[in-house]
Amino acid sequence: MDSDSTFSIIKPDAVSKGYAGRILARITDAGFTITALRMVRLTRQQAEDFYYVHRERGFYRGLVEFMSSAPVIVMVLRKANAVEEFRRLIGSTDPACADQGTIRADFATDVQKNAVHGSDSPENAGREASFFFPAIEIF
Ligand code: RTP
Ligand code: MG
Repeated sequence: MDSDSTFSIIKPDAVSKGYAGRILARITDAGFTITALRMVRLTRQQAEDFYYVHRERGFYRGLVEFMSSAPVIVMVLRKANAVEEFRRLIGSTDPACADQGTIRADFATDVQKNAVHGSDSPENAGREASFFFPAIEIF
């Protein structure tokens, strides 16, 4: 995947609270194009596999539990310098530290239930996008 794409998840907390439409509007208003999108409920195994890089972290078990607790919306987004631009749009991991006007500042509950995921590198964006979407479903 080139550096102009990133992968995102609207997490269970935000979907359950009915924030998905408003979050998608923030994303497209910020100039991102949606090139793939699907609603899915992760199995525990899928959540474990997706967050495998964090397996040694103290928050891993809770994160897996949370991410498999209810449906999420997974998507691929396109914009120049997408990874960096999207992480700026969503704000810091902990919403208490997130800049005003960011998606996490406005929609997240806490450091775990933080409304959205955004890939942290173009390499991981490609890996994460292909976890959910075959190439033929990314437009
Ligand atoms: P993400 O991967 O979801 O975009 O978030 P991030 O890069 O800002 O944060 P990361 O360090 O990759 O952590 C992944 C997710 O794990 C949960 N977390 N909980 N309880 C805690 O202290 C804690 N720290 C992280 C969050 O859901 C975080 O987004
Ligand atoms: Mg991360």
